[in-house]
Formats: sequence, C-alpha cells, structure tokens
Amino acid sequence: MTLIDRTRALQKRLASENPADLDPDNARVLLDELSEVLLEHDERYYGLDDPVISDGEYDALMAALVHIENLHPDMVDPNSPTKRVGSEPLSSFRKVDHPEPLLSLSNGFSGEDIRAWYERNVRSLGSSDNSHEGGALPKLVVEPKIDGVALALTYENGDLVRAATRGNGRTGEDVTENVRTIRCVPLSLSGSDFPGRLEVRGEVYFSRSAFERLNARLERDGSKLFANARNAAAGSLRQLDSRVTARRPLSFYSYATGPASDTLSASHFVRLQHLQKWGLPVSPDNRLVNSIDEAISIALAWADRRDDMEYEIDGVVIKFDDTSVQNRLGSVSNAPRWAIAYKFPAQEVTTTLRDIVVNVGRTGQITPEAILEPVQIGGVRVSQATLHNADYVRSRDIRIGDTVVVKRAGDVIPQVLGPVPSARSGSEQIWVFPTRCPVCGAPLERLEGEADTYCVSADCPEQFVRLLEHFASRNAMDIEGLGSRLALQLAGGRLVRRLDDLYRLQLQDLMDLDGFGRKKAQNLLDGIVQSRDRPLSRLLFALGIRHVGKTTSESLVTQFDSIDSIASASIEVLQRVDGVGSVVAQSVHDWFEVEENKRLVAALASLGVNTVRMDEEAHIQRSTGPLAGKTVVITGTFEYMTRGEVEKLIAAHGGKTTSSVSRNTDYLVSGTSPGSKLAKATELGIPVLSESDLKNMIS
Ligand code: IVH
Repeated sequence: MTLIDRTRALQKRLASENPADLDPDNARVLLDELSEVLLEHDERYYGLDDPVISDGEYDALMAALVHIENLHPDMVDPNSPTKRVGSEPLSSFRKVDHPEPLLSLSNGFSGEDIRAWYERNVRSLGSSDNSHEGGALPKLVVEPKIDGVALALTYENGDLVRAATRGNGRTGEDVTENVRTIRCVPLSLSGSDFPGRLEVRGEVYFSRSAFERLNARLERDGSKLFANARNAAAGSLRQLDSRVTARRPLSFYSYATGPASDTLSASHFVRLQHLQKWGLPVSPDNRLVNSIDEAISIALAWADRRDDMEYEIDGVVIKFDDTSVQNRLGSVSNAPRWAIAYKFPAQEVTTTLRDIVVNVGRTGQITPEAILEPVQIGGVRVSQATLHNADYVRSRDIRIGDTVVVKRAGDVIPQVLGPVPSARSGSEQIWVFPTRCPVCGAPLERLEGEADTYCVSADCPEQFVRLLEHFASRNAMDIEGLGSRLALQLAGGRLVRRLDDLYRLQLQDLMDLDGFGRKKAQNLLDGIVQSRDRPLSRLLFALGIRHVGKTTSESLVTQFDSIDSIASASIEVLQRVDGVGSVVAQSVHDWFEVEENKRLVAALASLGVNTVRMDEEAHIQRSTGPLAGKTVVITGTFEYMTRGEVEKLIAAHGGKTTSSVSRNTDYLVSGTSPGSKLAKATELGIPVLSESDLKNMIS
C-alpha cells in the first residue's frame, strides 16, 4: 500500500471509530500504524520537501495519535512523532554547566601546517613513550568540519535528558525542548549496550537543500531570511518557542563522545560507530587512515569538493584515533593537542555596507550594488558586491551601515548574503529602490511577475555603453581591444551611437581618440572588420536581447538559417526550439518588432556583417542526443576523468549540471564515495550512472 493509501485508510477509520472504544490490542495496532504513517509524512516534509498531505490533515492524524497515547500511556514509544512537535514557549533559556568543558580546535591552513602538527605530536609521544619509536604509526580520523552550531546531548539510561549549546565552553544554554524536535536526534537510544550516562557532542546544521527550502518558505511568508545556513541553524536552535523549531528541517551529526559512565572503546572511530549503532547520526564522510599523507590528501580533496557537499563545511578535522594517545597528548588552553582543524580559505566574511548604488546593464536591467568597507576574501580584495534586485534587499532587510555577510566563492561575483542584525547600532538606513534611471532619468519599470527592474528608455547612454561592451566581448563578436573603457570613449564621444556605427569607423576617427596612435587604431579597425565574419549565433547573442544568452542563441540558430527567419518567426514557432520557453520566445519576438532594431539589423547586413547561418552551426549536438536538455548532478570521485571533465562532457552533449539532487534531476553520475546525493537520488528513483555508463550513453 502506498503512503497515501495508508493515510486515506486511517482517515476513514478515524472518521467512523472512536479510539476510546477500542480494546488494547486494536488500539496498539492503530497507534503503530499512525506512528509509522506520521514518520513517513515527516520524511516527505523534512527530508524530501515533498509533502503529500496538507498541514491540516497532518495535524488531524497527530491529534489522533496524541489521543490514543493519552488513553494508553503504557504504549507510548519514546521516539513517537508526538514528541517532536514542540511545547509551550519558554521565557528564557536556563544556563547549564558542562561537566567537562567543550573545547575548541586549533587551526592549520595548509598541508604543511597539518604535517608540522602531526610530527610535533608524534615526537612528543616518542619521547614520553619508547613503544612508539619504530612501532606502528598512530592512526588518524579525518572528519568534515561541519559549519553549524555545537551541541552536547546527555542520555540517561538511553533517554535524551538534556541538550545544551556550547556557550563559552564551560556554561551553555539548555535547548532540550528545541532539540527534541530535530527528527534525526533520537529521543531514546537503540540497543542495550550503551552506558547508563553518556554525553554525545556534535553539530546542528542545515543541509544546503533544507536551508534553501527554509529561506524560500520564509520569503513566501514575508518573513526575514537568513544570510546563511549557519546563522539559520543558530537562529532556529535559539527559538524560545520550540514549536517554531519543530517546523525547521534541522539536522545533526555526532562527532565525539563526552563523559560516560562506562568505559568506551579506546578508538575514537569505533566510538563513532557505536554512536551510529545506538541510533545517533554520524557523518558518512568520516575516514580512518593510517598515515598523515592520506589524511592530508583527503583534506585537500574535500577543499575542492566543498561546494558539492550536501552540507556546508568550513574545514576538515584531523584527530588521533587512539584515545589513550589523546589523553597523553592532552590540551593547551582551550584546544586539544590531539586534534587540528584544517581550515579552508574563508568564502564568507563580514564587513560594513557603506552605501548602495544601482548599475544600469546592457538590457537596461537595474542592479543594486553594495559599496563595502574593503575586505580580503580568499586572498582577493572585495569592495563591491551584488545585491541582485529590489526584493533581495527588502526580504533580507539589508540597510546602509549594516554589518553584512559577504560571500565570494570560486569565480562567482561577490554577493551580500544578509545583515548581522545583532551588530546594529540604530543608525542604519533603510534603502529605497530608485524610481528613475540614475543615468538618463527615465522612469523605471518592473514587469509583472519579474524580479528585476528596467530602464526601458532606448536613449539611455549607460545602457548603450554596456551593450557596446557586450557586443564586442569574447563570446559575442570578439573584437579585441574593445573593452569597457573604449566602449565609454566611443559612446561618450558620440562616435558610436548605434551598434552599426562601429562598422562605419574610419582610421582617422580612431586616431583622434585619446591614447590612440596609428598602430593601435589600425589594430582595432582590423578587429572590427574581422568581426563581420562571426557565426550567426554570436551576432544573435551580441545584440543583447533580454533572456538570450549564448546557449539560447546557439539553439535558435540550429532551427533558423538567418537572422531574417528568426525575425519573422511567430512566438509559437520560436517556442518549438529546445530550451526556448514562453518568456524567451516573447522577448525575441518583441525585440524584432521594434522599428529601431529592424533598422539596426538591416544596417549591419548592409555593412557586411554576416547574418546567415554557417554550415557548422546547424548541427550543434546540443539539441539532440541522450543528454539534450537533461539536468545532471555529479557526485564522488572518478577513475578516468576529473569532475571538471565530466561536467564538460555533459555540457558538450547538451546536458546541464546542477549541484543538488531534486525531483528535477534526470541523472546522477556517481563515482566512488558518493555521499548523500546518491541516497537522495535512490530515494527519488533517479537513474544513477557510473563513469562508464555515461561514456556508453553518449558514445
Ligand atoms: S571536535 C575537542 N569535530 O568546530 C574537539 N569539532 O572550531 C572539539 N566542529 O566547536 C571539537 N565539525 O562545533 C570536532 N568533526 C568535528 C567538527 C567539529 C565541526 C566544530 C565544533 C567546534 C568547532 C571548533
């Protein structure tokens, strides 16, 4: 029976029967069925973000389970879903002293730092204990350093009796009521061989997908969004109303044991395995290794993969596995000597938002931009960052003067993720989106259903400078030497007022420009002349039609043999092209309807610019083949290719790669050590391909 069939059967039964009339055996059957069905609905809601019943239906089933549990308290399972719904709000959190302090970690920033740490420790072990000289090298455990909030859980006789935050390491806050709502934290341990009293330490966090879901929901509700997953975890854990925490899809991974009433295994790794056996979540990425070389190579590999992991990590923790070795090494101030965090270069930092300005793009798109107190992120100085659009600033309540979290990852443009409200002084200014173009003064427009605002004036000089720059850029007409400075010079000096003016420029015009001699002018002119022979798809992209990127241009050109045939195509016909939806089709159609644009295209053609399809453009593999239009996720490591090569191969065959598995994923390409993406894909029934399956598929 499917989940929904079981749910309907239960609803029918509850409508016609009063649980109070049931004998204990039947009550037990009903209670078990309700618990199982509710747990499955929890998994759909929290784990898969795919609820199959309404909140009201869920609440009714939960109320029925509470009712039966009240009638038969002896039947209540300590991990029952009724224990996860939260309780009355607290007025404050009680302070709790940790029986043993929760230590912090010392940091290393390179393979050499880690090796030096290891060698120092091995030397000190060797000098205090001769058995280590020439003997087996101590084993190490490599664990992801999860970027969340530290938590200590206390179990007494297998029952969760307390959950406390780290606080200052000695005293934390009692967040038991909130932690009881975290689905993956067992309220009662499995098995029987656990110590009577056991403290488990670990990290509360949001998986990437859960965090995105949370912010999407907060945005729908008009609530303030969280800047990042870590802040969201901290904020959700510190809710005085645990019913609010109960609605937040938080997760937890255990990474250590604290004080215990019985002797635990001498191996840290085995301890983690025991925790897992008792029902506690442990990261599947932890590794036990025999040498520091292995540990370092895993740490470096994770640094490369960090953006692909299902949860955010800010480093890798390396620990000596043998707890007697740990005890011998001991601690310095507040960090153990037996562990080190290999910290990844920061991708996020905080700084002050000095001002917000708006930029005008080539399509007239107005983008708010943050002017920041300059900061270093991953070795790069950042003083500006994007704020995307009006809603982005409003929903995050980003104010001028705020301390803000700024992210710069890989090649991505730096972006402001959100404010740190606790750092406010009260003098911060709420920013108002302008109603007129800051360059030409024309009223701005925001189209129905679109997030972006545009300057729609055809005469806006700033738009034209951006368009000219785009027209000449590498993936468009590729005119060497024509970058943003020259675009401004040409457009500002009124030498080029429309794109076709470029092809009318004479040598003397260019020699008259500041900084131009004969040679430079001639080179530029040659570049402009050469650009007349670019393929049609480049010209189409170069025109700067809204929503028409490089890939869309290439797809369009496979179906039309000239710019004229695209110009005269109806919206319906345009939409038949792979990858062209109604928005793109409408935008292309509208662009070619504008008289000024018609004149531009005719002028370009008459000046010798190619406007017909070249032979090779008709057969871009993209629109056909097994991966055309498919969304693919990559996970794990591969034998013959790097991940970058796998990605390129997929793109070359028309597929698109994304970072997380969802219902929209068509395939998961999985190597070794696939992690949670594989589990998710299997759950969702998404086909999983190996490296060789992928090659066979496209060969
Ligand atoms: S071990 C005595 N292992 O990192 C050792 N910590 O910067 C204490 N963290 O407060 C911690 N992942 O919250 C350890 N696998 C891991 C961890 C981890 C994340 C956090 C932890 C701690 C902080 C120290």
